[in-house]
Amino acid sequence: MSISNGIFISFEGIDGCGKSTQVKLLMDAMNQTGQKTILVREPGGTTISEEIRDILLHRHLEDICDRTEALLMTGSRSQLTYEVIQPNLNAGINVIADRYTDSTLAYQGGGRKLNIDWLIKLNQFATYELEPHVTFFVDVLPAEASRRKSQERDRIERAGIDLQAKVRNAYLELVNQFHDRIVLIDGHESIEKIHGTILAELQRRHLFE
Ligand code: ADP
Ligand code: TYD
Repeated sequence: MSISNGIFISFEGIDGCGKSTQVKLLMDAMNQTGQKTILVREPGGTTISEEIRDILLHRHLEDICDRTEALLMTGSRSQLTYEVIQPNLNAGINVIADRYTDSTLAYQGGGRKLNIDWLIKLNQFATYELEPHVTFFVDVLPAEASRRKSQERDRIERAGIDLQAKVRNAYLELVNQFHDRIVLIDGHESIEKIHGTILAELQRRHLFE
């Protein structure tokens, strides 16, 4: 499960940072230049993974314990990697993921305080050790992200701004730890400016024409 031809790009950030907006713009830009590209979002993206998403976020199961949360997030990821991401990369199709392994490190590690080394191993197991070529961390302050979010909040968003602050700090640490792979993007800039920065970074890495 490791030889791949397509480019694999992931987007990360706290809830409401603006990453889904950027993911769509990038997919359109890549498809317009003839680089066939698909989108996936986590948790979800396959029949099984969407069922897991429902349990995790929408069934008001407030007593899910932290380890179960980590296992379900990575379970969803494993099915998505096996069924969708790796086969598309193998077929030469680019994949853009709205969240991937770093979400587990930031939310279940930084947010829920689970042991990071276990989570790294769990991610490796779940993904068959597949890693994105590049990851964009769209950084906004929790207060701004909260303003941008719609009124309807899922189970994790209901945990509030304190969790988002811990998650953001964890992401900033990940940027330092994995500085070759993760690119820090200032999410307070305009949508167009952020999109331009992302395209420029991909060109610099010879991942976009
Ligand atoms: P996420 O996927 O990170 O939760 P979204 O892309 O759905 O975030 O954006 C959340 C809201 O913020 C949307 O209404 C979107 O239009 C708006 N938004 C996205 N990017 C920006 C930006 N750079 N500046 C201002 N508002 C933004
Ligand atoms: P979603 O509605 O997709 O949020 P967003 O639009 O902000 O991406 O919900 C995904 C939620 O699940 C979000 O709060 C982050 C959380 N999450 C984790 O806690 N760990 C993970 O590994 C993943 C993939 C997501």
